[in-house]
Amino acid sequence: MIPVVDQRIERYLAELHSERDPVLTEMERLAEELAFPIVGPQVGALLYILTRSSRAKRVLELGSGFGYSALFFANAVGPSGRVVLTDTDRENRSRAHRFLTKARLEDRIQFRVGDALELATSLRGRFDIVFNDIDKEQYPLVPDAAAKLLRPEGLLITDNALWGGCVAEDPNADEATRGVRRYNELMARDPRYTTVILPLRDGLSVSLLQSPNPKSVT
Ligand SMILES: C[S@@+](CC[C@H](N)C(=O)[O-])C[C@H]1O[C@@H](n2cnc3c(N)ncnc32)[C@H](O)[C@@H]1O
Repeated sequence: MIPVVDQRIERYLAELHSERDPVLTEMERLAEELAFPIVGPQVGALLYILTRSSRAKRVLELGSGFGYSALFFANAVGPSGRVVLTDTDRENRSRAHRFLTKARLEDRIQFRVGDALELATSLRGRFDIVFNDIDKEQYPLVPDAAAKLLRPEGLLITDNALWGGCVAEDPNADEATRGVRRYNELMARDPRYTTVILPLRDGLSVSLLQSPNPKSVT
């Protein structure tokens, strides 16, 4: 495995932000206890910044877990905004509701249980942001699904784009690695999107869906 970020840098970043919101701290503790993967505080802060600075009001999450990443989105969209959470696990819905209620953000969220890509086909309206964190094998299906859901110049944000460094090592290691590699390749050459992969935590891919008449910058 190639570490995406050197452990010393990870520690430095963690220490810089030691003051934490109590609900986030509780969620981080639960994630540690259950060995459940969450985006963590650095990516969370970036999700907040991207949402807020693009004035996004409608966010769809594919793979919400117990609502940690959703909490950053729900804070950022403001009182008139909405975040749709999806997850296959019903228990994650009750946990997410409990945490987001504690954070007084329950009015901004809607949690749907089921396969995110199937649920996505029944969703009405356009989203400003689609956040993808589902099983890595399914990543190659996401670019097309998201293109149907996003408004022009909406953002598709995908976590684990560097997958513990595996994407840069053995390309055939396992199905998950192949899924993430395929996703990155698709996005790199998809004319509908402009994409950058940030080597933050486990790699965060950020893509802008082009407006119908884009001025290319890449
Ligand atoms: C990495 S966790 C999500 C963590 C969350 N985004 C966060 O940072 O707080 C991935 C979640 O996606 C769910 N999941 C995986 N594949 C899915 C799919 N196809 N549809 C819906 N949920 C899925 C899993 O049950 C798991 O809870």
